[in-house]
Amino acid sequence: MNELLWAFGRASGVVSLILFTVTVLLGIVTRSGRPLPGMPRFSVSLVHRNVSLLALVFLVLHVGTLLFDSYAKLTVTDIVVPFVGSFKPFWQGLGTVAFDLVVAIVVTALLRRRIGNTVFRFIHWFTYAMWPIAVLHGIGNGTNGTSGWFLLLAAASTLLIVVAIVWRSSARFLENSHTRQTAARFKDGTL
Ligand code: HEM
Repeated sequence: MNELLWAFGRASGVVSLILFTVTVLLGIVTRSGRPLPGMPRFSVSLVHRNVSLLALVFLVLHVGTLLFDSYAKLTVTDIVVPFVGSFKPFWQGLGTVAFDLVVAIVVTALLRRRIGNTVFRFIHWFTYAMWPIAVLHGIGNGTNGTSGWFLLLAAASTLLIVVAIVWRSSARFLENSHTRQTAARFKDGTL
C-alpha cells in the first residue's frame, strides 16, 4: 500500500509539472490574443484557466499523498514553510516555494475582479519564477529526478517555455489590431 502511495505521489507530481507547463504556454497564447488550430481565442483563455486548476488538483494530490507516505517523511509545515524539511531540505524547499507561489497566483487570479488588474498582473508575473523552481525541485528531489526520461521531459519542456518567452518578447507577438485589442482587454481585466 505504501509503495502504491509513494508511486502515486511521484506520478501526480510529474502530471502536475506537465500541466503547469501547458498552463504557462496557454497563458502566453492567451496574452497574444491569437487562436490556436481548432481553438478560437475565447477557448484558449478558458482552457488556460481550466488546465491551471487541474494542475493545482494534481499538485494537491502530489503533496497530500506524500504527506501520508512514510518514505517522504513530510509534515504539514514542510508544505508551506520552505527549507525546513528533514529530507533534502533545499530541493524540497524549492517545491514549497513553488507551491506557495502557485497558491498566490491561483487565488489572485480567482479574485481578479475584486483585487484589481494591477495586483493580479503583478502576482501573475511570478509564474515565470514558479515554473523553473518547480522543475529544479523535481530534478533535485524526485527519485526519478535524474533518470533519463525525466531529464528529457524537463529539457523538452524548458525548450518549449524558452521559445514561447522569446516569442512573447518579440515585436511580432501582438501582430494585428485584433490581437492588440484582445491584449488590451486582457490588460484591463475584461477578458
Ligand atoms: C508546483 C509545485 C510542485 C511540483 C510541480 C512538484 C513536482 C514534483 C516532481 C515532478 C517530482 C519528481 C517525482 C518523481 O521522482 O517521479 C517531485 C518530487 C517530490 N516532491 Fe514535489 N512538486 C511540487 C511541490 C512540492 C511540495 C510543496 C512538496 C512538499 C513539501 C513536495 C514534495 C516532494 C517530495 C517529497 C518528492 C520526492 C518524492 C520521491 O521521489 O520520493 N513537492 N515533485
